[in-house]
Amino acid sequence: MFTMAHSSWIEFLLLISFFITRCFAGEVTYDSNALIINGERRIIFSGAVHYPRSTVEMWPDIIQKAKDGGLDAIETYIFWNRHEPVRRQYDFSGNLDFIKFFKLIQEAGLYGIIRIGPYACAEWNYGGFPVWLHNMPGIELRTDNSVYKNEMQIFTTKIVEMTKETKLFASQGGPIILAQIENEYGDIMWKYGDAGKAYVKWCAQMALAQNIGVPWIMCQQRDAPQPIINTCNGYYCKNFQPNNPKSPKMFTENWIGWFQKWGERVPHRSAEDSAYSVARFFQEGGVLNNYYMYHGGTNFGRTAGGPYITTSYEYDAPLDEYGNLNQPKWGHLKQMHAAIKLGEKILTNGTRTDKDLGNAIKLTTYTDATGARFCFLSNTDDKTDANVDLQQDGKYFVPAWSVTILDGCNKEVFNTAKVNSQTSVKVKKIDDDATTKLTWAWKMEPKKDTMHGSGSFKAHKLLEQKELTLDASDYLWYMTSVDINDTSIWSNATLRVDTMGHTLHGYVNKRYVGYKFSQWGSKFTYEKQVSLKNGTNIITLLSATVGLPNYGARFDEIKTGITDGVVQLIGKNNVTMDLSTNLWSYKVGLNGERKRLYDLKPRTNVSWYTNSSSYPIGKPMTWYKANFKSPSGTNPVVIDLQGLGKGHAWVNGHSIGRYWPSWITASNGCSDTCDYRGNYAKEKCNTNCGNPSQRWYHVPRSFLNNNDNNTIVLFEEIGGNPQNVSFQTVTTGMICAHVNEGAQLDLSCQGGQVISQIQFASFGNPKGRCGSFKKGSWEVINSQSIVEATCLGKSSCGFTVTKEMFGIAGVNGIAKLAVQALC
Ligand code: GAL
Repeated sequence: MFTMAHSSWIEFLLLISFFITRCFAGEVTYDSNALIINGERRIIFSGAVHYPRSTVEMWPDIIQKAKDGGLDAIETYIFWNRHEPVRRQYDFSGNLDFIKFFKLIQEAGLYGIIRIGPYACAEWNYGGFPVWLHNMPGIELRTDNSVYKNEMQIFTTKIVEMTKETKLFASQGGPIILAQIENEYGDIMWKYGDAGKAYVKWCAQMALAQNIGVPWIMCQQRDAPQPIINTCNGYYCKNFQPNNPKSPKMFTENWIGWFQKWGERVPHRSAEDSAYSVARFFQEGGVLNNYYMYHGGTNFGRTAGGPYITTSYEYDAPLDEYGNLNQPKWGHLKQMHAAIKLGEKILTNGTRTDKDLGNAIKLTTYTDATGARFCFLSNTDDKTDANVDLQQDGKYFVPAWSVTILDGCNKEVFNTAKVNSQTSVKVKKIDDDATTKLTWAWKMEPKKDTMHGSGSFKAHKLLEQKELTLDASDYLWYMTSVDINDTSIWSNATLRVDTMGHTLHGYVNKRYVGYKFSQWGSKFTYEKQVSLKNGTNIITLLSATVGLPNYGARFDEIKTGITDGVVQLIGKNNVTMDLSTNLWSYKVGLNGERKRLYDLKPRTNVSWYTNSSSYPIGKPMTWYKANFKSPSGTNPVVIDLQGLGKGHAWVNGHSIGRYWPSWITASNGCSDTCDYRGNYAKEKCNTNCGNPSQRWYHVPRSFLNNNDNNTIVLFEEIGGNPQNVSFQTVTTGMICAHVNEGAQLDLSCQGGQVISQIQFASFGNPKGRCGSFKKGSWEVINSQSIVEATCLGKSSCGFTVTKEMFGIAGVNGIAKLAVQALC
């Protein structure tokens, strides 16, 4: 009889399970032309959506809109500091439930890309590193350091194990087709010398040993060890080549816009240039394009990176901060995805030939074994439009800085500079039903202890802020005392503090002497006139951080607070007293934070002043509280914080992030028109000049109760006036389209609204743009009534624009239709 030893049985079972996995589960392989998923040769459109930057309730809608926009995949980082805020104490609840996020992606029929990092960058606080890591003895981050590597490996393994347990890797039948280790290390590794090179090798080995069954990637890492695939990040990646000719060319971060910092204007990247970058990439053999970001979202709580990343992380992404379509970008890219997908089989199986047609015109032809063709016709000149004659394949008008996609190489299905999608202009509406005037209660930040110089820790030196706070709060109090016996020198003195940032308040003998912030979030000098008395004087300084740095070699070592600085008193005749080595007393955080004044259930009984006729205005360190009714409907809700200075806001105990509307952006550098042509830079196409860098703050619907009983709490740090604060909803106000005949015109409102008015419609040769269309030299006289008959009163309408429709069939020349409507 055939018998098998126990160990052989195990080997046999393992072999069987190996074959089962190989044969039946999703397999992701690749070559230079394709990602091969379950045997199918694919090009992939993907978009970044960071799960903690929205709410669980928003996820399904965002994922669905990504799918409707023609994406195949959704990509996210994993955010270590949110998951392990205290060493070995993990949190995967609420919107940190990345497993749920990937399951929703799977349910929607999309693929997932997981960027474990665990360094993320991402304009996320401290790049995603927990601050306790920085305090570990002997640690050096992102280099060949055993303390760091051990922590990185433990966290990476934890994430991989959780993902495996829930069978989320494609190799297990799940959606995740790629995983990333580290992030853009190649850009800064030279600063770490040989230790940096060794670290990259270790990252690769550690990742590969996780056995996830799908390929690993490293972005911006030219020396990525095989079989890890190196990928490209940037505005354009057309010229990028992976370090192995057998690897697919992948664009892991196509920066579709840019992030904003406090004090900065709002950057935009045009739909035309975004599409151009993608089309050029696929023209030059691209296999995967991931938009960074597809939905940017919100930096809730203290998650914004720094210094000075705003609470909004909208990024001019195809889905706006609230999850609405950002049009025309979303629609234009959707059309491009569909156009490129027409060629997927040929692109992934074919061979490529390039033909230089002169004057920056290039024709790229992909041909497969059957002779089927797919073409890209590019005009890379940033000024001159071109008429290109492809003989039997037709004649094409290719605007400057654009790519035409030719199905079968003889039919224009898309041009990156010809935008047919609607433009939506968003408006903010004050809800008539909701209480618009808020009644404020208030409370001054309790400061008895700090005004007396009493803290919880003492040292004869100036300490580094995050090392002491562990980033549990933005705030650190530095307190000391000085004995004075000659007021003729000290009654009119200067208090001088050199600090590493980011903002500083000072008090002398309980009296507020002022506030200053660093323009760039780096080292600055604080100088205020102070008056000292005979005897003991108490000096109280409050240092605040506004997002810890997230980028650059050794960004984790950048200091914050008054460490390494000097604190001096300068009296008459420049007599100087140095306080740097005084006995300093320290206290982490605000008393209001400790008491949880922002919570619906504060830690202790807190009494608020409620005399609404005399609430404090312009007073630093003030807590305000008001009740409000939730705006009706389903449109996204924002709070308008105009009038306030700088601080933090909570709704029903949920943080909606830091605010700083008093920081007004430069009055120059914006323009109404945006020339999409030429290489993109973040200074291009800016808006919001001379306004608060961020005035409106997202209040996700899930934070609200559906009744009158909602609470807003503000901590105002520098002084402001909440009188004009109001809750508003964001909706589509005006919609426009400008399309050529033959194209599809689609107009739609948002949130159940209908098209209430056609303000302009002209079929002929209309000129101008949304908001200022004008009829051209000719038009069909009743254009407007024709469009009204089709669209008025509907939430959306769509039709192919033809001469027949406008009753002029047979008339020569190309006509265009411009429409401007109100929702
Ligand atoms: C990249 C980084 C991203 C993000 C981006 C800018 O360098 O990998 O995480 O920070 O820059 O938005």
